[in-house]
Amino acid sequence: MGNSTLLKEKFNPEPLKEVLKEYEGEKGVLIPLLQKTQELYGYVPPEAMEMISEFTSIPVSQIYGVVTFYAQFRLKPVGKHLIRVCHGTACHVSGAEKVTDAIVNFLNVEPGDTTEDGLFTLETVACLGCCSLAPVMMIDDETYGRLDEKKVRKILRQYKSKN
Ligand code: FES
Repeated sequence: MGNSTLLKEKFNPEPLKEVLKEYEGEKGVLIPLLQKTQELYGYVPPEAMEMISEFTSIPVSQIYGVVTFYAQFRLKPVGKHLIRVCHGTACHVSGAEKVTDAIVNFLNVEPGDTTEDGLFTLETVACLGCCSLAPVMMIDDETYGRLDEKKVRKILRQYKSKN
């Protein structure tokens, strides 16, 4: 455990090269380029930041600052399972915070991050559209409602044992 091939996949620069060609000569393209990068790779790899830095003449450190500032960008690949905990109003008042805390403690992962073994990525999101089941989380395409800490741990244990 802890040695994920997922996190060590080799970076393929070709798709990003194609995108950069399209933006040749344009200005103010940093955000769109980062968005495209994330679409291509599922996150913003350090190698991509270097390529974008060269292309835009913006220092890598500054690009890194932008990537960490905007919640939409990820610095690591998404894990095998994506957990999205709803923090919309209905879920918030029925204990979304506790649900997130239970996941953070059980998996040892922070929101926006992926577990060491590459199995889970945790995200907090706005209303998932099933407020009557609050508090709600989704794991991949599966919705889980009326959660409490115990239920959360049980569900996560099941996912762990499946892998
Ligand atoms: S507020 Fe959580 S599903 Fe709507």
